Amino acid sequence: MALLPITVLGAPILREETVPVEVVTDELRQLAADMFETMKVADGVGLAAPQVGRRERLCVVEVDEVRLTLFNPEIVAREGRIKWEEGCLSIPNTFGTVDRSERVTVRAINEHGAPVEVTADGLLGVCLQHEIDHLHGKLFIDHLSFLKRRSVLATWDKEKERYPKLVRIFGPGGTDPLPSADGETEGATESAAKPLT
Ligand code: NI
Repeated sequence: MALLPITVLGAPILREETVPVEVVTDELRQLAADMFETMKVADGVGLAAPQVGRRERLCVVEVDEVRLTLFNPEIVAREGRIKWEEGCLSIPNTFGTVDRSERVTVRAINEHGAPVEVTADGLLGVCLQHEIDHLHGKLFIDHLSFLKRRSVLATWDKEKERYPKLVRIFGPGGTDPLPSADGETEGATESAAKPLT
């Protein structure tokens, strides 16, 4: 297992289209395992491959008891509308309210190479939409109105100074602390308690 650096806004890969995965190899299963580990340390509930500098169409999600490794995920059905305050592990300490579908059905390939279909609402449903956006170079800020987006980017303008290399690295000497044994991240702000993807 390995902790991976998380790319932040400004890194070109976050704006690139991903490449569909044809065969789920051991290397890709290891990548997914490393993404889960990194996501946990970063206090997130979802993470997409471009966020760890990879172009495979892969994301991982863990909300409550549901843990999903999704290759080539696609939204095949949507229902209703919902507003959700979102954050992103690639735009730390920056939040905005996004219009999403209330419920989505996603088809994908799992870590064993088998087709899966998931229907979800609430946090899991929003998280799936957020991660699938990442796989097409889209970020939650793209869904905001011009004024909201400008205000969110003003916050990010200050935050980004912490990440001159456009990556978050966890641990000693890195840009972000590792969580302490009691699960609290040292120096965490109140807003950091919100689920991040
Ligand atoms: Ni995100």
